Amino acid sequence: MGEDKVKDITAGEVAEAPAAEPSTTAGKGVDSGSDGQPSAAPPAPPTQGDSDSVKDASTSSSSEKNPFDQYYAQLTHQQNMLQDSVRVTAYQRAISENRADFKGKVVLDVGTGSGILAFFAAQAGARRVYAVEASDVAEAAQQLVDANHMSSIIKVIKGKVEEIELPEKVDVIVSEPIGFLLVHERMLECYVNARERFLKPGGKMLPTLGEIVTAPITDETLPREQALKKGLAEHFGQPVVGYFYPTSIISHDRGRHLVDFAKASTEELVSFTVPLRRPEDSFFLGKVVTGELVFEANEKHSYFITMTLRLEGTEISSKQRINLQDQMYHYLTNPSSAGQT
Ligand SMILES: C[S@@+](CC[C@H](N)C(=O)[O-])C[C@H]1O[C@@H](n2cnc3c(N)ncnc32)[C@H](O)[C@@H]1O
Repeated sequence: MGEDKVKDITAGEVAEAPAAEPSTTAGKGVDSGSDGQPSAAPPAPPTQGDSDSVKDASTSSSSEKNPFDQYYAQLTHQQNMLQDSVRVTAYQRAISENRADFKGKVVLDVGTGSGILAFFAAQAGARRVYAVEASDVAEAAQQLVDANHMSSIIKVIKGKVEEIELPEKVDVIVSEPIGFLLVHERMLECYVNARERFLKPGGKMLPTLGEIVTAPITDETLPREQALKKGLAEHFGQPVVGYFYPTSIISHDRGRHLVDFAKASTEELVSFTVPLRRPEDSFFLGKVVTGELVFEANEKHSYFITMTLRLEGTEISSKQRINLQDQMYHYLTNPSSAGQT
């Protein structure tokens, strides 16, 4: 297929290739900031409207305005992701160490951003990579493809993966659709949708599995700090994003929720429950605490999480709604980098 023909066969558009700039190395960020730490500041959440309803979440149309489109269109945010060397190196290794899965294969990169995963797939020997990107950063990805003379392999397609068409089914889908608590941004649904529409039977998904793991922690400062603020309910409804010392974990117990991207349906991602303990062995202050987190996708491309805790053998229970889109960033230093464990 000729280089510019994808335009004719997709609902999306192939990003216009602006005049070639001096060559830019797509994988530059792999080396920069290689202190082994993720970027200090996680992506700030874009804001969108103020609708609080969960009702229409499962039917939310893919053509709805996604607040993350503008966010990801900015090169600075793509740069932040590239400078997260833990993230990028994990993907680079996963692809380069599984060359057999890529050599001669057709690959779809869902949400290519700067194109970094598409470049890794091409380096691993992919015959063709469809690099789909919803935001305007698709144009920068096209520039990088051209400047690196990869346009015979990598086809940048601007559009939402749910809305574009591809000329063929693919052998492998790669993506970095992971948000806070795995699911924030609701991009996993796009990843799964891409599998349903474009993956050949027996094809591979990278990543294949995602898991939410919960453990109870204790922290004296945080609740005190939150309690001092105005609007208590709002602050206690915020998820806290940050590092916590391993010593703050007060139980060996873990709640786990595994998502198999090779099998999961989009419906399973819209509403699901994560247990907060395994019933048989969770003890807290001599009492057993049980509970769960109920995730319900919302129109803010995030989730309302209802946390319920029960003190077994008593009437005591509590419920709290957490708005996953309203994160509070805290403890952004990795304990190991601060010389503490
Ligand atoms: C977390 S970023 C990852 C970018 C790049 N793959 C990387 O690893 O650096 C996710 C990207 O997916 C894009 N995206 C989100 N939803 C999409 C969709 N439905 N279709 C196509 N692209 C999407 C975003 O605009 C963003 O650039």
